[in-house]
Amino acid sequence: MFALGIETSCDETAAAVVRDGREILSNVIASQLDLHAEYGGVVPELACRKHIQVIDGIVERALAESGLGLAEIDLISVVRGPGLIGALLIGVNYAKGLAWGQGLPLVPVNHVEAHVYGSAMSNPQMEFPAVGLVASGGHTSLFVIENLGKYRRLGETTDDAVGESFDKVASLLGLPYVGGPEVEKLALKGDPNVIRFPRGLTKKRSYNFSYSGLKTAVLYHVKGYGKTKRDRDRISEKERADVAASFQEAALDVLVQKAVRAAEEFRARSIAVGGGVAANRRLRELFHGCAAKLGVAVHFPAPELCTDNAAMVAGLGHRLYTKDASAATYDFDAEANADFFQ
Ligand code: KG4
Ligand code: ZN
Repeated sequence: MFALGIETSCDETAAAVVRDGREILSNVIASQLDLHAEYGGVVPELACRKHIQVIDGIVERALAESGLGLAEIDLISVVRGPGLIGALLIGVNYAKGLAWGQGLPLVPVNHVEAHVYGSAMSNPQMEFPAVGLVASGGHTSLFVIENLGKYRRLGETTDDAVGESFDKVASLLGLPYVGGPEVEKLALKGDPNVIRFPRGLTKKRSYNFSYSGLKTAVLYHVKGYGKTKRDRDRISEKERADVAASFQEAALDVLVQKAVRAAEEFRARSIAVGGGVAANRRLRELFHGCAAKLGVAVHFPAPELCTDNAAMVAGLGHRLYTKDASAATYDFDAEANADFFQ
């Protein structure tokens, strides 16, 4: 069965063709990075206009690269939320039109659920129950996965998402957007033990996250009270690298602590990590160290399935449809705050 996935929830226009929920035949992503770079973040109106301009060409490319024609596609799935409402509307309405025109089933999927499915897609041996952790630019979510399709919420960020804090700290350190990979690179040259930045909400039993305090602590450390502009400009390369490494350690440490504690409490067989921050190598190291002691397997998506993409969308759409054909419907709308927990 061939599924075509479409994703336009933020600043990537993506389309992919996946066979039987796992085998990726094409995975095309048009990033709008250059468009938003000068603003230091995504401008929603610009994102929507760009999606409209390119979506048709991106779907055509995904089909061409898969070697299939539209007539050979069996199913279309599209992200209905969460995300920027204007951006979601483009993908949802495009997918509705395409599916309707072809007489195909259309499966709406949740973006956060698709991120965690990316991990399952790359690790077919994953065992349940599992703890799911989605760490991206828009989300920091922890949940129990009883089985794919059945989720229970444990916690969310109460302010910034973890990826967003990487982006903000990158900007503070004069690194380009997207900040996560840049901070990771600079952190390799630094010492994570030089500055003890705060670990948000770790003293409470709560599974929620908070990243705004960490971001502010980094801000004061770099631009501190009483420092003149000359002092700030004098921050050495070594200091910048130490700030990057110490920030990264604090940001990731919380994710690992809470996910591992949840795995213990809910007797999970595995931990499934997804989202852009899952591409971070230090996160993988920290998890493998901790989880090995606990005897829990930790699964990450293949690198191309970490950041936003449509292969995870096509895969999840197939999975939901084969489990229950009533997952296919035209009767849905784009939803900025779409949820998937029972
Ligand atoms: O999943 P994604 O593409 O988009 C959202 O759904 O938000 O995630 C993008 C986020 C950005 O904030 C980016 O800085 C972060 O993921 N990211 C990373 C790394 N690669 C991407 N953060 C830390 N380390 C990385 N290697
Ligand atoms: Zn995402």
